[in-house]
Amino acid sequence: MALMLRNARLVDPQVGLDEVADVLIEDERIAKVGASLECAGAEELDLSGKIIVPGLVDMHVHLREPGFELKEDIASGTRAAARGGFAAVCAMPNTNPITDDALAVEYIKARAEAVGKCRVLVSGACTKGLGGETLAEMGDMVRHGCCAFTDDGRGIKDSGMMRRVLDYAAQFDRVVMPHCQDDELVGAGQVNEGVASTRLGLEGWPAEGEELEIMRDIALCRLTGCPVHIQHLTTKRALDMVRAAKAEGLPVTCEVTPHHLFLTEDNIGDDYPTSLKVNPPLRTVADAAALIEGVFDGSVDAIVTDHAPHTEWEKDREFELAPFGMIGLETSLGLMLTHMVHTGVIDYAKLVDVMAVTPRAILRQERVAIEPGCMADLTVFDPNEEWTVRAEDFLSKAKNSGFVGHSLKGRATHVLVGGKLTLRDGVIVD
Ligand code: DOR
Ligand code: ZN
Repeated sequence: MALMLRNARLVDPQVGLDEVADVLIEDERIAKVGASLECAGAEELDLSGKIIVPGLVDMHVHLREPGFELKEDIASGTRAAARGGFAAVCAMPNTNPITDDALAVEYIKARAEAVGKCRVLVSGACTKGLGGETLAEMGDMVRHGCCAFTDDGRGIKDSGMMRRVLDYAAQFDRVVMPHCQDDELVGAGQVNEGVASTRLGLEGWPAEGEELEIMRDIALCRLTGCPVHIQHLTTKRALDMVRAAKAEGLPVTCEVTPHHLFLTEDNIGDDYPTSLKVNPPLRTVADAAALIEGVFDGSVDAIVTDHAPHTEWEKDREFELAPFGMIGLETSLGLMLTHMVHTGVIDYAKLVDVMAVTPRAILRQERVAIEPGCMADLTVFDPNEEWTVRAEDFLSKAKNSGFVGHSLKGRATHVLVGGKLTLRDGVIVD
């Protein structure tokens, strides 16, 4: 089966590509890239005015299956991912049961194979039950395809345990992705400590609660040599620590979410919107500006959503009782195009870097470039489509986005995974 993608602008910094040309896909791989290609019998798609990039990867997603299917499941979460332009997501292990052994990894792989609309990469827990006390079955999980380790949702308090986690992961050439949170310091913190916590009368979640663990984990990276990828980094000082670690040559990378780039503590009004309750919390205007600068200068390696679906009844409670998290898969690309690319902060090549190329490299996935021989995992978007984020339009089971009502410019139209369309003209292919 051959598929010809015609007349789109192709952007791929890995091969220095930025031109209008055709892409021929045969079976699951790219066969040819060039002007006015011919292939008798191929299905043709005219993608004039659109941009094709290597398939986007969101390396921090909560699909909630098994255990929390009321919030999301692998079918709905991967539909949301495809609608948002993603060809792959990395599922976090804070499911029930926790993904801390080979069976749990196999379960997610099997469900994704059966119902997934994008690739599902599986991350495994560092410690049993995310308890922070006993190593999870890391080697066995690697053998069954686990691509990275994280206790996301929790910090690993015991430095000796974190060191063991890193020593183990290093043996398997896997990255450890810490959710940096000093639990004792953060306590019951709800919003950024400072102006927001004072104004709202809520307990503060101090920047130091994140920065102290980042500092420690960089030190442990230096001690063990294991690659460390800091999850959802939110402060200027934290980013400066990552910059210093990189300058030293340590294998330290970091990710930032659209909500920490484009929302701040000031957006949390006196209606106490629980959709803006996230962990780590929205920080200051200066922090968000520093993160945007970090994307521009390359200190931020990956844009991730931390897609964290919750039911409406869970979020429709007092701020202190609502769970942390917001969804993001269906708005991430539009937000990045609207606020980073169309404003001239970054170009399309940089967008591809932080949303496709580097996430794949960090997760030890096969390189996907727009060149013959590569797997045909591709994202197509219309950079000029103007749309408004509406809760009723989400394919996710959850509605807890902080961006409902926002006007965006740019949206995915097609996604290909292994040469097969999972999204076509903005509609999921069933
Ligand atoms: O806001 C968040 N929600 N942050 C996390 O680290 C976990 C996530 C969740 O699982 O809901
Ligand atoms: Zn987290």
